[in-house]
Amino acid sequence: MTSLLQFARYRVEDSARDLLRKEISARVSETSLDSDLDDAILGGIGAYALRRHLPGDILQGSQVFTAAGSHALLLSNLPTQDFPATPVSGFADESELAVTNAIHLGMIRLLGCTPFAVSYENDGRLIRNVVPNPAASGTTSSWGADSEFFWHSDNPHQPFGPPGSDPRLYAPPYLTFFAIRNEERIPTEVAALDDVVVRLDEETQTVLRAPEFEVGAPDSNDGDTIGPLVKTPVLETGPDGRHRARYDRGTTVGLTPAAQQALERWREVLLDIPAADLVLRPGDFMIFDNLRVLHRRKAFTPHPNTTARWLRRCYAA
Ligand SMILES: [Fe+2]
Repeated sequence: MTSLLQFARYRVEDSARDLLRKEISARVSETSLDSDLDDAILGGIGAYALRRHLPGDILQGSQVFTAAGSHALLLSNLPTQDFPATPVSGFADESELAVTNAIHLGMIRLLGCTPFAVSYENDGRLIRNVVPNPAASGTTSSWGADSEFFWHSDNPHQPFGPPGSDPRLYAPPYLTFFAIRNEERIPTEVAALDDVVVRLDEETQTVLRAPEFEVGAPDSNDGDTIGPLVKTPVLETGPDGRHRARYDRGTTVGLTPAAQQALERWREVLLDIPAADLVLRPGDFMIFDNLRVLHRRKAFTPHPNTTARWLRRCYAA
């Protein structure tokens, strides 16, 4: 069976990358810009330069991404800057990362999306540094490394938001990433929910669509988290007619024997699901649909703190 994953991949030419770096560096050097206080300004600076220097096919592919219902998009070879040491404690001096933030937030704007943070995670900060934080050792969190992070969606304990609502109250529709360093060459894996559903029998699908599950908050949530979501289905059909799901193996339980059995079948299918295996490199930007894609990261041994794997993640709606 072939994969149903729709994954658009683009690469920026070196010449365009260099022009982008020069222009964005000049703009952000005029002032001090913080990703939480100045996110709209940073996004504006980045989007303006990206529109000027990216070729038409990349601009077009970015603009139609959400409406086209693609699962994921990768844009590689974007400008990098002089990066500080990996902030393994979780937070960096954001003003030092203005070029990176302008590109990251500019790409989110080109995609027609709005970046947002939630109060119950990451201290409410917009950008999550996906780093091996020693304090998160042994947890299945984006700050972990030594535990495998099985196929999941982010913040699945939140309901799905109606179109046009405040995204902070709901499961994040999109996850975006900008890669700073990944010397360990650890892949981020994405799989289309459609590929899971076609491998499930009708009966299992019916049970997964019944409100017979409880889905709790992931380890990355702070103490004042919301949830769990009780008597909820794992699988739904969205207003666009597409499948969408909420799932985290560690926090999703069936409330009836039939639900437990369906969840077991779901997990078995996931063990053998076709997936894109992506080793993000410095300057790579990626977005995927958090409701229609499951993602995972296997356990790994990080490099020493200063050069350990470092991705930047931002929710978008
Ligand atoms: Fe995740």
